[in-house]
Amino acid sequence: MRILSNELSAHAGERVTLAGWLHAKRELGSVTFVVLRDRAGLAQVVADPPVALPAETVLEIEGLAVAAEQAPGGVELHEPSFRVLAEPAEPPPIELRRPVLKEALPTILDHAPLAWRHPRERAKLQLAAASVAGFRRALDRLGFTEISTPKIVASATESGANVFALDYFGRPAYLAQSPQFYKQTMVGVFERVYETGKVWRAEPHETARHLAEYTSLDAELGFIRDHFDVMKVVREAVAGMVESVGERAAGAVELPEVPAEIPWVHFAETGVDDVDLAPADERRLCEEHGEWLFVTGFPTAKRPFYTHPEPGRPEYTNSFDLLFRGIEIVTGGQRLHRYEDYVAALGGETGPYEGYLQAFKYGLPPHGGFALGLERWVARLVGARNIRETTLFPRDRNRLTP
Ligand code: 4AD
Repeated sequence: MRILSNELSAHAGERVTLAGWLHAKRELGSVTFVVLRDRAGLAQVVADPPVALPAETVLEIEGLAVAAEQAPGGVELHEPSFRVLAEPAEPPPIELRRPVLKEALPTILDHAPLAWRHPRERAKLQLAAASVAGFRRALDRLGFTEISTPKIVASATESGANVFALDYFGRPAYLAQSPQFYKQTMVGVFERVYETGKVWRAEPHETARHLAEYTSLDAELGFIRDHFDVMKVVREAVAGMVESVGERAAGAVELPEVPAEIPWVHFAETGVDDVDLAPADERRLCEEHGEWLFVTGFPTAKRPFYTHPEPGRPEYTNSFDLLFRGIEIVTGGQRLHRYEDYVAALGGETGPYEGYLQAFKYGLPPHGGFALGLERWVARLVGARNIRETTLFPRDRNRLTP
């Protein structure tokens, strides 16, 4: 029966079978050291006489587990017999044997099916998986229900720009920019909902923080006083994500501490002389206030039509961004909740929004929510400069494959 590389140390002195990929190979005189990679990690195999197998050969190896100080986990495999399960058709164009990939990002992205096999690369995807599990667990604890909403939609949610149009049986339709309308609608059913799923933005420019397709971790809750109630839930969600990363992927990153109350500053107090934060403002504010910071009260000019104005200061909104290590990772706020406010906000042009507006026509409590960009979060966690480094098969203006 097959055992995994991280189980080898429990089998010293026994004959065992490993299976995986030929990760690296070192010739030392008449001996070949083969490093085998499986889903749990790496194992060292000592082949004498040497073997002539190329990198990424898929192997089953039967042999004797022997204690050896210099081997990963302190045990290596001797007297191996190799069974080839699959041979690579050509030499891999990326050198996976290096501790850190040395190829440039475009090369890594072009060969992503191979590059993701590297232990350090795939660890980023494990961080993402642990983060999503932590998000779910935190919100489940708070009485939220998970939903899954349509991704083919009849109207843009965040803005008319940046939307992918498609032909839906002869009718215009769009790829969802966010689950915004449906998650608000479902507050009328469950009061508290969340969703994790892909969303699409036809981003016109190439930046290190924007993709055409990304994973949005969304939540929405009813019966709030204002956006500060939503910010408390954001705090619990990110704390749950950090906790889960600590449990499932510890060691891969330096874990941030999430303060019991994340500090906040109103947009009017940031010293920014514009209607939105520029990337340089986000970096400066985190330098001034710490690695976690809420900026609240964004100007009305920059927020979508569903955003609730700030009572007494209608040029500002009951909204927020969460900055983490110098970048916005979350956007959220309180929404309008009265039907007549939506009719007014849409300038009476309610046609494409009839479905959405049913929620308000039949009564919705004061509510709000937020969305966190998963790839941006993981990029910040591992210190990646470009979001593409932490995105499984990124989609942007130039990239549709792999
Ligand atoms: O700021 P955004 O567009 O807000 C919404 O989608 C609202 N519906 C959220 C709400 O509940 N009010 O996007 C939210 C987050 C951003 O903070 C960022 O982390 C990420 O999604 N994001 C992107 N990530 C990668 N590529 C892009 N093009 C992104 N656009 C936004």
